[in-house]
Amino acid sequence: MKQFISVHDVNNIDAIVQKALACKANPYSDKMLGTNKRIGCLFLNPSMRTRLSTQIAAQNLGMEAIVFNVGNEGWALEFEEEAIMSGTSVEHVKDAAPVFGKYFDILAIRTFPSLKNREDDYSELYIKQFIKYAGIPVVSLESSTLHPLQSLTDIVTITENYKDTARKPKIVLTWAPHVKPLPQCVANSFSQWVNAWGKADFVITHPEDYELSETFTKGATITHNQDEALKNADFVYVKNWSTFNDYGKIYESDPGWMLTNKKLKQTNNAKVMHCLPVRRNVELSDEILDGPASIVTQQASNRVWAAQAVLSEILQTNG
Ligand code: CP
Repeated sequence: MKQFISVHDVNNIDAIVQKALACKANPYSDKMLGTNKRIGCLFLNPSMRTRLSTQIAAQNLGMEAIVFNVGNEGWALEFEEEAIMSGTSVEHVKDAAPVFGKYFDILAIRTFPSLKNREDDYSELYIKQFIKYAGIPVVSLESSTLHPLQSLTDIVTITENYKDTARKPKIVLTWAPHVKPLPQCVANSFSQWVNAWGKADFVITHPEDYELSETFTKGATITHNQDEALKNADFVYVKNWSTFNDYGKIYESDPGWMLTNKKLKQTNNAKVMHCLPVRRNVELSDEILDGPASIVTQQASNRVWAAQAVLSEILQTNG
């Protein structure tokens, strides 16, 4: 594996899921793989799980992990080619990224979208510029449109929790209310991975006007009827996202879309997933999060093993 930006960087999803589960069963078996190697984790935006799990994964492989909060501790970076830098940005990525490339063996980056200009966000300029100029493998810690480490984790968690070999699991991705516009990254990425995996009956449900990009959802059944979607579901993945078409907006935060135990009764004793952080009693009810259906802590803990599987693949490919 040369980089990890999306599902397209993975040859075999089941194989990397099994690798993550093997890391979970035996975290230190590859302790020598990363000896004398260093990963730089660059955060242009906040994080808890991604930041900590990536560091733990690197350390389990014997790597040194250095975290740099570019967003509030570094120089303001410019990403546009041929920019006249007379504004607030101090350093061009063209100058900074090659330096990171000399300091580190792997570069991992978190960059959120602006949610102001869809074309700019969906061009993935920031992460592409790091790839172009760093000269070392780049791992996405969530970019403008995708969150692949989260999605790999999600498939690992579904694999752990689904043992019926007679039929595919029914997985429902449901929109949930929120107080502010959020990126489409997690929903895009989950859709992209589940569709590429091809081992689920996949349904996406959301209010009208919250359509995601077809680039990621093609292959899924899409409905505006949440109750219909939830029928016989084995997994319900709860997530808010802002509008894609009229970009980055919230049209409604109808509390009727929040998952409750009453709604969950329509499912096949579904397990409930959320990538966290979650707004309790806005996105997801206390009764679900504190009840037996929730697997959100297991899901978050699996972030370590997904990251470890990816870093291990990159170390093996790049020597
Ligand atoms: N799920 C996730 O990416 O969490 P953080 O934003 O805390 O890293």
